[in-house]
Amino acid sequence: VITMSDLDLEGLRVLIREDLNVPIKQGKVASDARLRAAIPTIQAALDGGAKVMVMSHLGRPEEGTFDAEASLQPVVDYLNDALDVPVRLVRDYLNGVEVNSNEVVVFENVRFNKGEKKNDDALAQQLAALCDVFVMDAFGTAHRAQASTHGVAKYADVACAGPLLAAELDALGKALANPARPLVAIVGGSKVSTKLTVLESLSGVVDQLIVGGGIANTFIAAAGHNIGKSLYEEDLMDEAKRLVAAAQAKGGDIPLPSDVVTGKEFSESAVAETKAVNTIANDDMVFDIGPDTAAAFAKILEQAGTIVWNGPVGVFEFDQFGEGTKALANAIANSKAFSIAGGGDTLAAIDKYGIADKISYISTGGGAFLEFLEGKKLPAVAILEERALNG
Ligand code: 3PG
Repeated sequence: VITMSDLDLEGLRVLIREDLNVPIKQGKVASDARLRAAIPTIQAALDGGAKVMVMSHLGRPEEGTFDAEASLQPVVDYLNDALDVPVRLVRDYLNGVEVNSNEVVVFENVRFNKGEKKNDDALAQQLAALCDVFVMDAFGTAHRAQASTHGVAKYADVACAGPLLAAELDALGKALANPARPLVAIVGGSKVSTKLTVLESLSGVVDQLIVGGGIANTFIAAAGHNIGKSLYEEDLMDEAKRLVAAAQAKGGDIPLPSDVVTGKEFSESAVAETKAVNTIANDDMVFDIGPDTAAAFAKILEQAGTIVWNGPVGVFEFDQFGEGTKALANAIANSKAFSIAGGGDTLAAIDKYGIADKISYISTGGGAFLEFLEGKKLPAVAILEERALNG
């Protein structure tokens, strides 16, 4: 694909699609990782002499109306503090906007536009008409074929990838295509069903797959243990057995936790009990891996050449069930492996345990990161490739 740095932007109207979809609490940005990742792109366009317009979605508002709850105003306030030039939020932009070289114009939430989600052609053409160059930089939204990610790239005079998108594709692509071995993946989170294709495609490329969180519960049950009242997916037990058998046929394994941390209720005040995996009681819920398991997994991570991490291995938002995730986070932080991490919960865990600067690459993608790991083609990237080939 063509990248922004290939182009002379002097005096051109440049429309950048970023993923500025960040959590907002009480009218303020609550986590700025995505904003920090987008700022260098915006700055580079300003430095190149462009007339800079930025657009993004925020949340999942109803289309066709303005919804103050989903306004990008808090993001614009943040950008105003972070950049040296004024940043201005514009609500009506589809019929044209005046932009000067020494400012940034941010378009109000693109999901207020009717037709955004279904990638409406007329809307995409309107967006494309606003710029000379469209820069797709929103890796976090590249798995969505919507008017502001895919349609506009189809119709803009020039469409290119921004530096953040290019860096994400490069880092994740390299880690998976030609990884330093052994390649170890940790997949956690609550359900096998949401990660089944990730588990399947990773099991084909990794040397060692580690499962944790609610996902591990299904594997524990599949191995014939009592899982008590824990969250697990009975209908995916055969799938879990198949994945384990396939790993074993390759001479590897998907290791089961040997011990777990349980509670009697899902609550901040639940009492944590550590027990062997074969002693889970009928009224227990498994909320974390136990210390022996964490140590065994940490040892595997210590020897890894590359680590891919998606999903916590326990209910880490409650401290008494966070020790497993904390132990693995520290093991990743201390390992010499090239490590990549992505996904909303994973980033929250990285923040909580303060290891952000010890991870080699942190992706801004949630769903997009997963789809990349699944080996899927991201539609907003595919259109840039098509444009690069066919103009
Ligand atoms: C994300 O947070 O994963 C992206 O911003 C995409 O948001 P969406 O799932 O609402 O399309």
